[in-house]
Amino acid sequence: MLVPKAELHLHIEGTLEPELAFALAERNGVALPFASVEELRAAYRFEDLQSFLDLYYRLTDVLRTEQDFADLAEAYLARARAEGVRHAEIFFDPQAHTARGVPFATVIDGLWKALHDSEERHGISTGLILCFLRDLPAESALETLRAAEPYLDRIVAVGLDSAEVGHPPAKFAAVYERARELGLRAVAHAGEEGPAAYVAEALDVLGVERIDHGIRVLEDPALVERLVRERIPLTVCPFSNVRLRVVDRLADHPLRRMLELGLLATVNSDDPAYFGGYIHENFAGVRDALGLTAAELRTLARNSFEAAFLDDDARARYLAEVDAHSF
Ligand code: ADE
Ligand code: ZN
Repeated sequence: MLVPKAELHLHIEGTLEPELAFALAERNGVALPFASVEELRAAYRFEDLQSFLDLYYRLTDVLRTEQDFADLAEAYLARARAEGVRHAEIFFDPQAHTARGVPFATVIDGLWKALHDSEERHGISTGLILCFLRDLPAESALETLRAAEPYLDRIVAVGLDSAEVGHPPAKFAAVYERARELGLRAVAHAGEEGPAAYVAEALDVLGVERIDHGIRVLEDPALVERLVRERIPLTVCPFSNVRLRVVDRLADHPLRRMLELGLLATVNSDDPAYFGGYIHENFAGVRDALGLTAAELRTLARNSFEAAFLDDDARARYLAEVDAHSF
C-alpha cells in the first residue's frame, strides 16, 4: 500500500506530459518545435532553472481552452491518486497564459472543472495556489491578483516562482500585502538557486507561512535554527534539485540532514513530467538513495499534512491515516 501523503509543491503546467502536449497541439492547431514525443522527451536535459523554464513556458503554448486546462488537471489527479496522494495544493502560473492572450477565466474555470469534485471522484482534496512570475514586474502581479478577485473562493494562497536569482522577494511586498488583505495564505519559492537571504526575506517581508524548496538555508545555521523554532515548512523537491543541478546526485541530497536538524521538510514533485517522476517516485528515490528509515518516511508523510493548509479536522483524519499505515 502506498504511503498516504499531501503534495504541496506541484506546478500544474509541470505535469504536461509529452503525449498530452502533442495531443493538445494537434487539437488546437499549434506547431511544436519537436517532431515526435521521443524528440521532445530527449530535450529534457537541463543546465539550470532557466534552461528548464524556457521549455516549460514554450510548451504552455498548447494550452488554449478551458477543456485543455481541465484535461491537464484531470490527468494529474488520476496519476496522483495512483501515487497515494490524499491532498494536493496545486500551483498555477496565470501570467504564463494571460501573456499569450488566454484569459484568466479560461485558466481557472478549466482547472476548476477537474478540481471542484476531485474529493468525490479521486479521493483527493485540493487547493489552488496562484503563483506570480517573479521575473515580471510587480505591477503585472498586482494586475493578476485583481483578475483573481472574482475567484477567491477557489484559491487558497499566493506563491512566487520562475527565475529566482536577481528577483528578491521584497519586489512583491505590496502584492503579498494585498493578497493577505484578501484573506489568502502565502508561500514563496526561495533558496532554490537563490541565496538563504531570500528565505529570510520571504518570511520577514512577504509574511509567507511556507517556503518552497529552501534547501540553501543549510548555508545559514542561524536561519535553520529559526525555521526549526518557528516550525516553518519547506517543500523540498529531490528529483527537481538533481535535474536542475542544484544537487549533483540524489545520494548527495541534503533531505536526511534537514530532517536530522529538525526542519519540517516535505517531499514533493515540482514539475514531474519534466523531472523523471511523480511524488511516489521522489519518495522511493530518496528512500533508496539516502537509505531513509521507516521512521523518517513516517515523519515525511506526517510533515506533509502538518504543513498543508487544512482545517484541524481534516488534518487529524489524514494524520490518523499515516499512523495506521505500516512503513
Ligand atoms: N516554475 C516551475 N517550476 C519551478 C521551479 N522549480 N522553480 C521556479 N519556478 C518554477
Ligand atoms: Zn517549483
